[in-house]
Amino acid sequence: MSLSALHDSLRNCQECRLASGRTQVVFGTGNPNASIMFVGEAPGFHEDKQGIPFVGAAGKLLTELLESAGLSRSQIYIANVIKCRPPNNRNPEPDEVDACQPFLLQQIQLIKPHLVCSLGNFATQTLLGRKVGITKVHGRQVQLTDFLLFPLYHPAAALHQGNLLSALRDDFQKLKQLLDTMAKTQQEGADSPVVRKPVQMDLF
Ligand code: URA
Repeated sequence: MSLSALHDSLRNCQECRLASGRTQVVFGTGNPNASIMFVGEAPGFHEDKQGIPFVGAAGKLLTELLESAGLSRSQIYIANVIKCRPPNNRNPEPDEVDACQPFLLQQIQLIKPHLVCSLGNFATQTLLGRKVGITKVHGRQVQLTDFLLFPLYHPAAALHQGNLLSALRDDFQKLKQLLDTMAKTQQEGADSPVVRKPVQMDLF
Protein backbone atom coordinates (compact mmCIF):
# COMPACT_ATOMS: atom_id res chain seq x y z
CA MET A 1 0.00 0.00 0.00
CA SER A 2 1.22 3.54 -0.70
CA LEU A 3 1.17 6.35 1.85
CA SER A 4 -1.57 8.16 -0.04
CA ALA A 5 -3.67 4.96 -0.21
CA LEU A 6 -3.29 4.60 3.57
CA HIS A 7 -4.35 8.24 3.95
CA ASP A 8 -7.42 7.64 1.76
CA SER A 9 -8.37 4.55 3.76
CA LEU A 10 -8.43 6.63 6.96
CA ARG A 11 -10.42 9.66 5.78
CA ASN A 12 -13.62 8.21 7.23
CA CYS A 13 -12.00 6.26 10.09
CA GLN A 14 -14.45 5.25 12.84
CA GLU A 15 -12.02 3.20 14.98
CA CYS A 16 -12.53 5.32 18.11
CA ARG A 17 -14.78 7.96 19.71
CA LEU A 18 -12.62 10.85 18.41
CA ALA A 19 -14.27 10.40 14.99
CA SER A 20 -17.42 12.13 16.25
CA GLY A 21 -15.72 15.41 17.22
CA ARG A 22 -13.19 15.90 14.46
CA THR A 23 -13.36 18.22 11.46
CA GLN A 24 -11.03 15.88 9.56
CA VAL A 25 -8.37 13.21 10.04
CA VAL A 26 -4.93 14.82 10.34
CA PHE A 27 -2.84 12.14 8.65
CA GLY A 28 0.61 13.70 8.24
CA THR A 29 2.58 16.02 6.00
CA GLY A 30 5.93 16.31 4.27
CA ASN A 31 8.23 14.18 2.16
CA PRO A 32 6.90 10.61 1.78
CA ASN A 33 10.50 9.46 1.21
CA ALA A 34 11.96 11.38 4.15
CA SER A 35 14.85 9.86 6.07
CA ILE A 36 13.82 11.85 9.14
CA MET A 37 10.37 11.75 10.68
CA PHE A 38 8.90 13.74 13.60
CA VAL A 39 6.04 12.31 15.64
CA GLY A 40 3.82 14.41 17.92
CA GLU A 41 0.84 13.57 20.10
CA ALA A 42 -2.47 14.62 18.55
CA PRO A 43 -3.93 17.46 16.48
CA GLY A 44 -5.11 20.59 18.26
CA PHE A 45 -7.65 23.21 17.19
CA HIS A 46 -5.72 24.62 14.21
CA GLU A 47 -4.50 21.22 13.00
CA ASP A 48 -8.09 19.89 13.07
CA LYS A 49 -9.29 22.85 10.99
CA GLN A 50 -6.41 22.81 8.47
CA GLY A 51 -5.79 19.04 8.31
CA ILE A 52 -2.03 19.54 8.79
CA PRO A 53 0.03 18.64 11.90
CA PHE A 54 1.83 21.34 13.85
CA VAL A 55 0.38 24.50 12.32
CA GLY A 56 -0.51 26.28 15.60
CA ALA A 57 1.82 27.95 18.12
CA ALA A 58 3.73 24.71 18.87
CA GLY A 59 4.10 24.20 15.13
CA LYS A 60 5.61 27.65 14.67
CA LEU A 61 8.17 26.83 17.34
CA LEU A 62 8.82 23.42 15.73
CA THR A 63 9.47 25.09 12.36
CA GLU A 64 11.95 27.48 13.98
CA LEU A 65 13.72 24.63 15.82
CA LEU A 66 13.91 22.57 12.63
CA GLU A 67 15.55 25.51 10.87
CA SER A 68 18.08 25.78 13.73
CA ALA A 69 19.09 22.20 12.89
CA GLY A 70 19.29 22.95 9.16
CA LEU A 71 16.01 21.18 8.37
CA SER A 72 12.97 22.38 6.43
CA ARG A 73 9.47 21.00 6.86
CA SER A 74 9.40 19.91 3.22
CA GLN A 75 12.38 17.60 3.64
CA ILE A 76 11.03 15.69 6.65
CA TYR A 77 7.72 13.95 7.40
CA ILE A 78 5.56 14.99 10.37
CA ALA A 79 2.75 12.90 11.86
CA ASN A 80 1.04 12.34 15.20
CA VAL A 81 0.30 9.22 17.24
CA ILE A 82 -3.38 10.21 17.25
CA LYS A 83 -4.87 11.42 13.97
CA CYS A 84 -8.04 13.12 15.29
CA ARG A 85 -8.36 16.01 17.72
CA PRO A 86 -9.28 15.03 21.30
CA PRO A 87 -12.05 17.29 22.66
CA ASN A 88 -10.67 20.44 24.34
CA ASN A 89 -7.17 19.15 23.62
CA ARG A 90 -7.39 16.63 26.46
CA ASN A 91 -4.78 13.86 26.61
CA PRO A 92 -5.55 10.86 24.41
CA GLU A 93 -7.12 7.90 26.28
CA PRO A 94 -5.22 4.57 26.23
CA ASP A 95 -7.86 2.92 24.00
CA GLU A 96 -7.56 5.81 21.52
CA VAL A 97 -3.79 5.31 21.39
CA ASP A 98 -4.34 1.55 20.90
CA ALA A 99 -6.79 2.23 18.06
CA CYS A 100 -4.59 4.74 16.25
CA GLN A 101 -0.99 3.60 16.76
CA PRO A 102 -1.15 0.86 14.08
CA PHE A 103 -1.61 3.66 11.51
CA LEU A 104 1.51 5.47 12.76
CA LEU A 105 3.46 2.20 12.57
CA GLN A 106 2.18 1.68 9.01
CA GLN A 107 3.29 5.21 8.10
CA ILE A 108 6.76 4.46 9.49
CA GLN A 109 6.90 1.17 7.55
CA LEU A 110 5.99 2.95 4.31
CA ILE A 111 8.27 5.99 4.76
CA LYS A 112 11.19 3.94 6.16
CA PRO A 113 12.97 6.82 7.94
CA HIS A 114 16.45 6.21 9.40
CA LEU A 115 15.70 8.54 12.26
CA VAL A 116 12.46 9.22 14.14
CA CYS A 117 12.24 12.17 16.56
CA SER A 118 9.44 11.64 19.06
CA LEU A 119 8.01 14.83 20.55
CA GLY A 120 6.96 14.42 24.18
CA ASN A 121 5.89 11.52 26.37
CA PHE A 122 3.06 10.08 24.26
CA ALA A 123 5.06 9.67 21.07
CA THR A 124 8.16 8.49 22.92
CA GLN A 125 6.31 5.90 24.99
CA THR A 126 4.29 4.72 22.01
CA LEU A 127 7.40 4.14 19.89
CA LEU A 128 9.46 2.66 22.74
CA GLY A 129 6.58 0.43 23.79
CA ARG A 130 7.22 1.24 27.44
CA LYS A 131 6.49 3.93 30.00
CA VAL A 132 9.66 5.96 30.32
CA GLY A 133 9.60 9.67 31.15
CA ILE A 134 10.75 12.13 28.48
CA THR A 135 12.88 13.87 31.15
CA LYS A 136 15.06 10.75 31.28
CA VAL A 137 15.48 10.10 27.57
CA HIS A 138 15.31 13.45 25.74
CA GLY A 139 18.35 14.19 23.61
CA ARG A 140 19.57 10.57 23.67
CA GLN A 141 19.73 8.04 20.84
CA VAL A 142 17.84 4.78 21.19
CA GLN A 143 18.41 2.19 18.46
CA LEU A 144 15.15 0.35 17.74
CA THR A 145 14.75 -2.51 15.26
CA ASP A 146 13.93 -0.39 12.22
CA PHE A 147 15.15 3.10 13.07
CA LEU A 148 17.09 5.26 15.48
CA LEU A 149 14.77 7.03 17.94
CA PHE A 150 15.71 10.51 19.19
CA PRO A 151 13.22 11.67 21.85
CA LEU A 152 12.67 15.39 22.34
CA TYR A 153 10.52 17.49 24.63
CA HIS A 154 7.20 18.47 23.06
CA PRO A 155 7.31 22.06 21.70
CA ALA A 156 3.93 22.84 23.36
CA ALA A 157 5.39 21.91 26.76
CA ALA A 158 8.44 24.08 26.02
CA LEU A 159 6.16 27.05 25.23
CA HIS A 160 4.91 26.94 28.81
CA GLN A 161 8.17 26.13 30.61
CA GLY A 162 11.27 28.17 29.82
CA ASN A 163 13.69 25.54 31.18
CA LEU A 164 12.26 22.95 28.77
CA LEU A 165 12.64 25.41 25.89
CA SER A 166 16.37 25.80 26.49
CA ALA A 167 16.77 22.02 26.81
CA LEU A 168 14.80 21.58 23.58
CA ARG A 169 16.99 24.12 21.77
CA ASP A 170 20.10 22.29 23.03
CA ASP A 171 18.67 18.94 21.86
CA PHE A 172 18.07 20.36 18.38
CA GLN A 173 21.76 21.33 18.26
CA LYS A 174 22.60 17.73 19.25
CA LEU A 175 20.29 16.59 16.46
CA LYS A 176 22.14 18.83 14.01
CA GLN A 177 25.44 17.21 15.02
CA LEU A 178 23.91 13.76 14.70
CA LEU A 179 22.63 14.57 11.20
CA ASP A 180 26.05 15.94 10.16
CA THR A 181 27.74 12.77 11.37
CA MET A 182 25.10 10.54 9.74
CA ALA A 183 25.62 12.36 6.43
CA LYS A 184 29.42 11.92 6.66
CA THR A 185 29.05 8.24 7.58
CA GLN A 186 26.84 7.72 4.53
CA GLN A 187 29.30 9.54 2.26
CA GLU A 188 32.07 7.30 3.51
CA GLY A 189 29.95 4.30 2.55
CA ALA A 190 29.57 2.91 6.04
CA ASP A 191 26.54 0.69 6.23
CA SER A 192 25.13 1.86 9.55
CA PRO A 193 23.62 5.29 10.21
CA VAL A 194 24.31 4.86 13.94
CA VAL A 195 27.25 7.03 14.85
CA ARG A 196 27.41 7.03 18.62
CA LYS A 197 26.81 4.22 21.00
CA PRO A 198 23.06 4.29 21.43
CA VAL A 199 21.47 4.20 24.86
CA GLN A 200 20.84 0.66 26.03
CA MET A 201 17.23 -0.05 26.92
CA ASP A 202 18.17 -1.33 30.37
CA LEU A 203 19.52 2.11 31.32
CA PHE A 204 16.00 3.41 31.83
N1 URA B 1 0.68 19.05 19.10
C1 URA B 1 0.87 17.82 18.57
O1 URA B 1 1.31 16.92 19.25
N2 URA B 1 0.58 17.65 17.31
C2 URA B 1 0.12 18.60 16.52
O2 URA B 1 -0.11 18.34 15.36
C3 URA B 1 -0.05 19.87 17.08
C4 URA B 1 0.24 20.08 18.37
